[in-house]
Order: sequence, then C-alpha cells, then structure tokens
Amino acid sequence: MTIKTSASLLACNLAQLALEISKAKKSGVDWVHFDVMDGVFVDQITYGSPVLKAVRASTDMFLDVHLMVEDPTDQIALFADAGADMITIHAESFCTLAEVLKDIRKRGKKAALAVKPLTPIETVYPYLHLCDMVLVMTVEPGYGGQAFIPATVDKIMALRKTADNLGLKELDIQVDGGIDEKTAKLVKKAGANVLVSGTTLFKAENMRAVNDELKKAAD
Ligand code: DX5
Ligand code: ZN
Repeated sequence: MTIKTSASLLACNLAQLALEISKAKKSGVDWVHFDVMDGVFVDQITYGSPVLKAVRASTDMFLDVHLMVEDPTDQIALFADAGADMITIHAESFCTLAEVLKDIRKRGKKAALAVKPLTPIETVYPYLHLCDMVLVMTVEPGYGGQAFIPATVDKIMALRKTADNLGLKELDIQVDGGIDEKTAKLVKKAGANVLVSGTTLFKAENMRAVNDELKKAAD
C-alpha cells in the first residue's frame, strides 16, 4: 500500500494556520490531521467545526478530523458541513458506534474508528465493514509530543492480518502519536499506511526531507 502522511496541526503555529498548511502541502504531506478535543474525553480543549470551516476555505488538502470527544453523535453534521473529508470517532466514546459511522458515510465522508493504546484491537472488528480506516493510537490521546508506545505494534499487525483475511485490502490503518523516522519504520512494517505526525513534521528544519523519510516504503 502507498504510505501517506497526515500533518497534525496541534504542533504547528496556530496563529499562522493557513501558512503552516501550505508549507505542509509544498513539502509533499498528503493530508491535514485536525485534532478535536472537548476537555472531557481528554483534558485539553482545542478547536471545533468553525475553525475547520476556515481551514477548508484556505486549502484543497484532504482534511482528516480526529474527534476526541465524549459523544460525537451531534458533531458529525457540523464537521461534515464544515468540509471534513474523513471523520474518525473513538471506540471509547459514548455513542452508538455503528449508527455514527453510517451517518458519516451517508454524508459522503470517509469514516474511521480509533482505539486508545489500552483498548483491545478486537473492539473494532465488528465495525470494519463500516470503516474506511482504523486509527490505532500509539500514545494516549490528549497531547502532542509524547513518546511512542511500542506495545501498540502488535495491534497493528493483528488488525492488518484480520483485514486481509476478511478481504478488506483497501482498509487504511492510521497511527497517531510519537511517530518519527525511527518509529515510522516499525509501524509500516506492521501494516500501517497512514502516518500522523505533529512534532516531527512541524519542528523539522527540512519538512520535505523528513516527510520523504516517513513515506519511504517499509523495508
Ligand atoms: C494526540 C493527537 C495527535 C498528536 C500527535 O492526542 O491525537 O494527533 O497531535 O502529535 P505528535 O506527532 O507530536 O506525537
Ligand atoms: Zn490525532
């Protein structure tokens, strides 16, 4: 599978959003990762659909929205209308997962399900037919700049194997948290093909060189 990168805006200069996004685009980054935190599901509060709408107006890049919110049910319409291309909900959130995933697709958007590091990967298996992507969190959600949790690699491997066995060859597996040139190698080898990166990309001296390195095929 081709490897894609998704730049997490959490680590960019938020006062210069449009500039930072165009820098990512020029560096060959594929997607923009938009972390929505509600101060309940996780500690921090970041940004919501009005900010996504402004981002949408500033770029044609693929917008990947990661909802770290207690109940995403009523947020789907708002983020879909604001211009999301893909919406990821958490398996640990309080909602009817199947109904919300269906609602995302009904609105013409790609749907994804995320699991925190301690949530068994088997949790997502009953929903794979409703998902374009599964996000395997490689840190506890809540903050950028944390260290990668190695125990998550086995979950990626198990998920890729299960998806292949089910004939779901197109399922994207995304990883998020602590991804750098070193950990990228491990997750790609295990079967991940969409790499979220905040700190590594936005703090890089040469974003293009780092992005190229992240996107290199697994060896
Ligand atoms: C964490 C967020 C991540 C975060 C990743 O809860 O979901 O997207 O921004 O940041 P880095 O790449 O710095 O670990
Ligand atoms: Zn994220």
